[in-house]
Amino acid sequence: MTVIYLDNAATTWPKPEAVYQAVDACLRSVGGNPGRGLSTGSRNAANLIFETREALANLFGISNSAQVIFTHNATDALNTALFGFIKPGDCVVTTSMEHHAVARPLAYLETLGVKVVRVQADRQGWIDPNAIEQAVGKGTKAIVLSHASNVTGTIMPLYEIGQIARKAQAAFIVDAAQTAGVEAIDVHEMQIGLLAFSGHKGLLGPQGTGGLYIQEDIQLKPLRYGGTGSLSESELQPDFLPDRLESGTLNTPGIAGLLAGLEFIRTTGRDVIRKKEIQFAAQLIAGLAEIPGVRLYGPIEPDKRTAVVSFNIGQLDSNRIAYELDAEFGIACRGGLHCSSWAHRTIGTLASGTVRFSPGYFNQTAEIAAAIQAIKAIAERNGNHEGNTG
Ligand code: ALA
Repeated sequence: MTVIYLDNAATTWPKPEAVYQAVDACLRSVGGNPGRGLSTGSRNAANLIFETREALANLFGISNSAQVIFTHNATDALNTALFGFIKPGDCVVTTSMEHHAVARPLAYLETLGVKVVRVQADRQGWIDPNAIEQAVGKGTKAIVLSHASNVTGTIMPLYEIGQIARKAQAAFIVDAAQTAGVEAIDVHEMQIGLLAFSGHKGLLGPQGTGGLYIQEDIQLKPLRYGGTGSLSESELQPDFLPDRLESGTLNTPGIAGLLAGLEFIRTTGRDVIRKKEIQFAAQLIAGLAEIPGVRLYGPIEPDKRTAVVSFNIGQLDSNRIAYELDAEFGIACRGGLHCSSWAHRTIGTLASGTVRFSPGYFNQTAEIAAAIQAIKAIAERNGNHEGNTG
C-alpha cells in the first residue's frame, strides 16, 4: 500500500531529492570536522556550515549569520534560550497554547522561582495581543510563545506582540518549529530577540537539525561547555558566537541536508509552498466539515492557520482513528495530545486528544480527497451522526 503522508507537522516527508543527495554526498566526500584542523575536508565542512548559516540568516532577515547557532532540534534551541536567559526571580509571559518544548522548561523554571504568567487563548487557539499587553508588567524579562500552534495551526499575531515586547523592553522569544520555511519570519520587523526553529519540518532538512537566532545584545549562558575548535589554549569557553553555544562536533551531514532544503525553498518560493499547503488544508476543512460527527478545531479561515487540521469523530478515540487510518488506509497522521497538553486543555480536548492531518508541499489533491473519504468511512461505520461544530 502506498503511504499517504499527512504528518508533516511532526516531520516533513518526503524530502526534496537534493536533500537525500546532499546527506549522502557529505558522508561520502566531506571527510573532515568543521573548524577542527586545516585539512581540505575540514575546511570544506566549515564552508558548508558557514553557507547554511548564511542561508538561514537570509531566510529570517538576520544581518549577521554568526548570531545563528545550530542545535539538535527546536526543543534544544528553546532549552538553550530559556535556561541561558531566564534566572530565578525573573518574570516571563507565555500562553496557554505552548508545546511542551516551551511549557516544560518554563514549568521547571517556575519551581526555581521564576514567575510565569500564562495568557489564555480563545477556543480557536488565538492569542489576543491586548491580553499579552495586559499581562506584561514592569520588569517582565521575556515574552515566550509559538508562532503557530502544532495542534490547531493557529498563527499568532507576532508583529503586534513584538511591538509590545519592544515597548516593555522584554526579550521576545519565538518558537518557530511549525512555521520556519513556510510562514514569513523577519527577526527585525517582528522584534524577535531569540528565534528557535526546527530543521526537519518546514525547512525540509533531516531530523537532528535545528537552530537558534540570538539578537546581538542578548547574552546566553551556555547549556554545554567543551571543545569549539577555537581558543584551544584557554580553559574557558569562548565568549563569541557561534562558538560560545556550539560545543562539540556539529551534525555536518544533517546540516548539508538542511542546506539543500533551504535551497529548495529559495528556488521554489516560500510563498508558493505556503499557498499549496494552505490549499490542502482548505480542502481538508471543507471535506471534513461535511461529514456528520466530525468536529473541527482551530480557525476556519485557512489564511489564519498553518496546514494543520485537527478533528475528532464523535466520541471515538483519536489514537484509535490514527491507528486505523494507518493500518487500513495507508494514511500516516498523528492522534493524541501532540506533546501539547496546554493547547488541548485550551481547546477542550485534553481528555480525547485530536486526530491531526498536516499536509505538506509534496502531497497531491487526490491524496487529500482519499483522506476525507477514509474519515467518512470510519465515521459511517461507527454510526456517528452528531453535529460538527468545534
Ligand atoms: N512537535 C511535533 C508534533 O507536533 C513533533 O508532532
